[in-house]
Amino acid sequence: MKKSRIGILTGGGDCAGLNPAIKWVVKSALDERLTAERGIQYEVVGIRDGWKGLVGTEQPSVMALDQGVVRTWDRYGGTMLGTSRTNPYDPKNDRSKAALNNIRQLGLEAIVVIGGDDTLSVAARLHEEGVNVVGIPKTIDKDLVGTEYTLGFETALNIITEEIDRLRTTAGSHERIFVVETMGRNAGWLALEGGESAGAFLILIPEHEFSLHKVNELVLEGRRAGARYDIIVASEGAKPAGYTEFVRSMATDSFGHKALGGIAEFLADEICSSTGLETRSIVLSHLQRGGAPCAYDRRMGRYFGIAAMDLIVRKSYGRMVSYRGGGFIAVPISDVIGKLSLVDVKTQYDTDRYNGRRTILTK
Ligand code: F6P
Repeated sequence: MKKSRIGILTGGGDCAGLNPAIKWVVKSALDERLTAERGIQYEVVGIRDGWKGLVGTEQPSVMALDQGVVRTWDRYGGTMLGTSRTNPYDPKNDRSKAALNNIRQLGLEAIVVIGGDDTLSVAARLHEEGVNVVGIPKTIDKDLVGTEYTLGFETALNIITEEIDRLRTTAGSHERIFVVETMGRNAGWLALEGGESAGAFLILIPEHEFSLHKVNELVLEGRRAGARYDIIVASEGAKPAGYTEFVRSMATDSFGHKALGGIAEFLADEICSSTGLETRSIVLSHLQRGGAPCAYDRRMGRYFGIAAMDLIVRKSYGRMVSYRGGGFIAVPISDVIGKLSLVDVKTQYDTDRYNGRRTILTK
């Protein structure tokens, strides 16, 4: 029987849903019935720590994967393969030749790349250089174009909702305002949909610059209407009009991103000094990426993993599996990278209430 070796890696920020996807790539590749039907005996190797596992000048860092190894992986968060933000094409330290050599040395017919924009942009460049790649979308930010779902997002929303539920009891007891900072970089999906799920009073997103004066007015209006406490969700990329985004550090990673953060603390101080109401801030940070995948991420990881293997069997390379309009399709990775899927303020955000929309039907 013909033999074929494929690699799989996870790159960028970790999240829940990666392990289910890995498991289902392996199970679909090694399934006995499918193997007999296809007449191809696949072997799967896990590449450790994203692209970092391929850029070493000595041995590539890999592990053998079989159905026994991955059997329980779908129950766990993070990635059993490890991840990194290594960019083999980093202009300051280009290690793409080493990556290409290692891919050749490992004899990989194709690589399944599970990642967001950065990781997939490397996949696209390697594809241009002749490497067979297949993508699976993941990022809690849900900012990838070409797909309506990215692994990790729903689990992160569940965490935001649970944490806000916890904050509500203590906020209510003390009649405090809490400003909750979510991740998401320049996309407001986590803040908007997390805030909607949790029933936040105000939701501030990067796609719409907010007025500090208006935030204070809305808070005071709420108090006059009887609110005893408030939950305000602010995306890490949100900013008041006239300000630039809040950053934790000016240093950039190998893909050129600055670490965002600080808006919640800033806003809590502003609200407190302007309204006199006791206001605290909390940064949910990496809690949003932690823990076991929710049911939806387990299922989507499974479906994306199976779909990725379908692409490999069809030898349809340079494509990312995608969820759109209720079904699974594949889109060229080159069409997806270097773009951002953002909240459409006109149709998805209420700029008067600083919250989700209150009319839903479009037709
Ligand atoms: O892109 C995913 C993400 O979690 C962003 O929401 C966040 O800004 C960033 O990664 C944090 O990255 P790190 O794990 O490197 O701190």
